[in-house]
Amino acid sequence: MNATVKSTLQLYERWAQVYPPVAHNPLMRAEQQSMLQMCPDVAGSRVLDLACGSGRYSRLLLEANAAHVVALDFCVPMLRQVSAASRICASMMHLPFQAAEFDCVVCGLALGHATDVREWMVEVARVLRPGGTLLYSDFHPEAVRAGMTRSFKDEGDATWTVPHHAYEIDCQRDAAAAAGLEIETLSEVRMGLELKEAFPGSEQIYRDWHGLPVVLSVRARK
Ligand SMILES: C[S@@+](CC[C@H](N)C(=O)[O-])C[C@H]1O[C@@H](n2cnc3c(N)ncnc32)[C@H](O)[C@@H]1O
Repeated sequence: MNATVKSTLQLYERWAQVYPPVAHNPLMRAEQQSMLQMCPDVAGSRVLDLACGSGRYSRLLLEANAAHVVALDFCVPMLRQVSAASRICASMMHLPFQAAEFDCVVCGLALGHATDVREWMVEVARVLRPGGTLLYSDFHPEAVRAGMTRSFKDEGDATWTVPHHAYEIDCQRDAAAAAGLEIETLSEVRMGLELKEAFPGSEQIYRDWHGLPVVLSVRARK
């Protein structure tokens, strides 16, 4: 495990203590709404919740009548919170599955932790059946360029920032195409527009950053 991956894991072990299995802030609620609008009908499907965290998408997928949901993450304290799905502790860069095992792969807010976006796409495409769907989201590269970070406050109110890569949209497109995935839909959550829920200080934030895309959601088909 390289040093960045190790420190990412240590930070998520800490974050897991305050990471409930629901969209727990305005950005996550807007991201989830965008993802659910793009989500295919998963009834009766085998779905992989990749980098599942505490399992909010696993729960939603089972509520949408997926036949089987596998929740994979490399962080045990996150996985402990996943109640409904089958849980697997592994790296999302080396998936312990056979080719074409899943009808759908869902990955919320984690692409930026891929050590190489091309390798990530190839690995995801490998476990998808032909015609299967990949649905993923993450911080928008423009938000990262504007200085936004992936940060959280722990139980003692200390702030921590998790390192991640900002893969440009063209880079994601190229990686998808090289892996045999066709991007069907791409959706942005923009400050003050799709993301407009009130919270302390939000008026100023939405004014200062108005229109900045903060989340990118993508649906691709194999
Ligand atoms: C921001 S959280 C998102 C969790 C969940 N998908 C959600 O949307 O609520 C990112 C997750 O990615 C996981 N993660 C990061 N790098 C990973 C890797 N290389 N392999 C597997 N999981 C990873 C972390 O442990 C964490 O649970």
